[in-house]
Parts: sequence; C-alpha cells; structure tokens
Amino acid sequence: MRYCLIGCGRVAPEHIRAAQHNGLELAGLCDVDPGRRAENLSFAADVLRDVPFFTDHRAMLREAKPALTAIATPSGLHAAMALDCIEAGSHVIIEKPIAMHLADAEQIQQAAQRQGVVVGNNLQNRFNPAVCALRKAVEEGRFGRILSATFQLRWWRGAEYYSQAAWRGTRALDGGAMMNQSIHGIDLLNWMLGSCPETITALKSTLLHTIECEDIGVAALRYRHGALATLECMTVAYPAAQEETLQINGTKGCARLGGTAGHTVELWRFDDAAPGEEAEMRRRYSVNPASVYGHGHSLLYADVCDAIAQRRPPLVGVTEGANALSIILAAYRSAESGRPVRFHSDETIGKIL
Ligand SMILES: NC(=O)c1ccc[n+]([C@@H]2O[C@H](COP(=O)([O-])OP(=O)(O)OC[C@H]3O[C@@H](n4cnc5c(N)ncnc54)[C@H](O)[C@@H]3O)[C@@H](O)[C@H]2O)c1
Repeated sequence: MRYCLIGCGRVAPEHIRAAQHNGLELAGLCDVDPGRRAENLSFAADVLRDVPFFTDHRAMLREAKPALTAIATPSGLHAAMALDCIEAGSHVIIEKPIAMHLADAEQIQQAAQRQGVVVGNNLQNRFNPAVCALRKAVEEGRFGRILSATFQLRWWRGAEYYSQAAWRGTRALDGGAMMNQSIHGIDLLNWMLGSCPETITALKSTLLHTIECEDIGVAALRYRHGALATLECMTVAYPAAQEETLQINGTKGCARLGGTAGHTVELWRFDDAAPGEEAEMRRRYSVNPASVYGHGHSLLYADVCDAIAQRRPPLVGVTEGANALSIILAAYRSAESGRPVRFHSDETIGKIL
C-alpha cells in the first residue's frame, strides 16, 4: 500500500518505523522545513533517500497518490490536512489529538464516510500490553461494579521543550498538559469506563511555563452509572517524568498501571484471581520502552491496515479520538467558567451540552 507522511518532526520516526514494520511502500514525505528530514529521519536515510520529498502536502497527495497518509504536524493543522487527504481518497492516520474542535472531528467523520476511507487516530497506548490486559479484565467483568478511576500524569517539560517550536503550548495549535500530554490517559479512562462522563468539574492553571495554555489541570468526573473519576495532569513535575498512572477500583477488583507512561502493572487484585496472578501480571505485562511514546505506533498501523483490508472500523478511529477530545474541551470550559460542565455522549461522538 502506497504510504506518505506529512510532518517530519520529533514523532516522525515512530511513523516511519511503523510503516516499515507493516510493509508499506514509502511513496512521499512532506514538511514545510526540508531540514527536518535529515534532523529526525537519518536513522532510515538509506530507505528514504529515493523517497520523493515535498514541502506542500496537497502536491504530495496529487503526485504520490498514497493509499494511506499519516499526519504528524502541529495539532491545530490536523483537521484541515485530514480533510485534504480524505478528499484525495486516501485513508488517514492522524496524530493525537484528532482535531482541536469537535466540529472539525465531526467533519472528518462525515467526509470519511462519504469517501469510504478509514481514519485512525494515534492514541497508541491502547495497544500497550498492560492496557490490553486491563481492558480484558474490564470486559470480563472482573472489577464487579466500577466505583472509581484515577488518572495522574506527572511529567516535566522544561523551557527548552516549549521553545523548540512556536506552536507548542499555544491555544490554536497545541493546548497544554491536558490536551497534549494527557489525552492518551483520558482516552484510556473512556475505554475502561465504557462511556463519556455525565459531568466534569475542572481547574487549570499556568504556574511555571511561559505558555498560553495550562501546565497543570485537575478534574473530577461523574459517570451516569455512578462512578467518580479524577484527573491530574501536569508538565511541572520537577525534575523529570515521575508517573503516568491509571487506577480502577471496583466492588470485586482493583488494578493500577504505572511507570512513567502507564507501561507497568503495579497493582492487580481480584476476588477471582488465580494464585500468584498479581506477580505474574507484573512480570509478564510490564515493559520499559525507550521513550514515553511506547511501542504502540506499529500496532496501531497494523490495526488500521487490517481495518482497510477488512472494511471495518479501526480500534481507535474518529469517534474514540473525538470522545477523548471532548473531555478535554469540557474540562477547559469548566475551568474557564468556574462551573461543572454537563456532557452527553451518544453512540457516535460525545457532545458537551
Ligand atoms: N502519539 C504520540 O505519542 C505523540 C508523540 C509526540 C507528538 N505527537 C503529536 O504529533 C504531532 C507532531 O508533534 P512533534 O512532536 O513531532 O512536533 P514537531 O514540531 O517536532 O514536528 C511537526 C513537524 O510538522 C512540520 N509542519 C508544520 N507545518 C507544516 C505544514 N503545513 N506542512 C507540512 N509540515 C508541516 C514542522 O516543520 C515540523 O517538522 C503533534 O500533533 C503531537 O501532539 C504524538
């Protein structure tokens, strides 16, 4: 399948590796800054040497005619670029967040349906072994009734992170600790609890960094089935990433995934646990990837390729991306208005009321 990548920045290596692992034919690369290819993709210089390079993604779509295009540009550009790809008849993998506004996500959904293309969203932590094990336990009803969930992302991002590109920390193109860094965990919360919440009450602040958006945000969420959840999202956890933790507590079980990016099993206790199960889960399902991005890009690409072949929705598509986005936007609205925000989720895209 002919494959193109738009955006040759920091996350681009994950995309090129994923494309290679999935046997995709590299048909074009695009970046407005031609220097980014050498800066970030030199590890694959041999393979990429003869791949046409473009500075305009529309020209690439016209000339390279990809069947699948990945978008790894600043977040505020995702939606318009996705619409261009879909219009050109290409399946798309969009980096997170899928868009900055729910209306844009809905437009992507409608355009994809019209054109009959698959759209995946890089919320790749769903493919982490520990996360898959947690989801299986939820599906098997091992928690009993879920009563509470907590998500904490305590990371550090210094001035050098925010100053490496002008789009970082801006409202139009990025968002802050909730939108950029915490969206993976918020998506996992949605996946584990099975729906968007009923209400969100949030606070956010910019305490340390010179950015437009929040470097810390907290929220309390109430679900229709009664469960409560909390979020704590920060890029001010000096001096380095400390944890990305998701804990679920139910009437018959509790589990916690932790480590710096939710890749390890820390707690695993269930009424119906087999002898030694907790130690076994810790041993088998904890991994230690080189970066917080983890190993999920390749698995997400595999799922999208299979979805294209089988004409089925991908595991993480527009609906899932939009539902995670909608929680963050609701949290922003609550923090800015000082009021709880009510929420309605239907079977397509979660809507803030
Ligand atoms: N899934 C993950 O774990 C993960 C990890 C990191 C980043 N991301 C997401 O990936 C995206 C990119 O992040 P990054 O860290 O690689 O950023 P980056 O700034 O390093 O790279 C973005 C690249 O896009 C290029 N670009 C900007 N405008 C363009 C245009 N109009 N056409 C073509 N190229 C253009 C820039 O020149 C730059 O090279 C963001 O949306 C971010 O949220 C996701």
